[in-house]
Amino acid sequence: MIDLRNVQRSYPIAGGRAWVLRQINLAIGPGEFVSIMGPSGSGKSSLLNVIGLMDGEFEGDYALDGQDVRKLNAKQRQALQRGTIGFIFQHYHLIDDLTVAENLDLPLSYRDIPSAERKARVGDILDRFQIVGKKDLYPSQLSGGQQQLVAVARAVIARPKVLLADEPTGALHSTQGKMIMDLLCELHREGMTVVQVTHNPENAARGQRVVELADGWMTEARRA
Ligand SMILES: Nc1ncnc2c1ncn2[C@@H]1O[C@H](COP(=O)(O)OP(=O)(O)O)[C@@H](O)[C@H]1O
Ligand SMILES: [Mg+2]
Repeated sequence: MIDLRNVQRSYPIAGGRAWVLRQINLAIGPGEFVSIMGPSGSGKSSLLNVIGLMDGEFEGDYALDGQDVRKLNAKQRQALQRGTIGFIFQHYHLIDDLTVAENLDLPLSYRDIPSAERKARVGDILDRFQIVGKKDLYPSQLSGGQQQLVAVARAVIARPKVLLADEPTGALHSTQGKMIMDLLCELHREGMTVVQVTHNPENAARGQRVVELADGWMTEARRA
């Protein structure tokens, strides 16, 4: 599903380059659940951004869902991203001036889906995530845990094959964090490929494999 070969990322700095990812070789099969750990600044978000096609300025090879990412133009890359990837972040990144239902509809609006079906899908996901009562509220009217619940719903509403989560419980209380982790596990059981970044060993252990990063290098890969 995800196949990174010798991927490297650097930024120009005065007098040279700052290396953020070094010789990353990582293959993640369809339906796997992988946790990425490592100290702050070790390159975890940078790696997730490459995997999620948010960053195309890397060296090396990357195939996502069988497509050679380097061969795609910007439009093809965006289409592959929208069709394949769902993203959740530590701080939710919902759109403040859209309601919950409008936030959920947004990923569908980018795709060629008739409006009746969009409505139905938003209704289904509100049901499934038990947030029907929140549909007309704005993000600022929700708790952190509820906002993250909406963010997960938004990430999966277009049925991506891959869910990428960058410290998804990092800003939550432990009960809310557990609810989000339970949800990631449930989506994984249903067949979604899940890649999460986490600082929490307990959360990391809920994946099948743990990948450790240090200073941009993959230092360890082990079974969870
Ligand atoms: N746009 C950028 N320009 C220069 N350096 C960057 C940029 N983005 C990230 N970095 C550097 O890359 C390193 C890894 O960052 P990041 O991937 O965010 O780490 P993590 O998510 O593990 O905390 C850090 O040293 C950071 O300063
Ligand atoms: Mg980070």
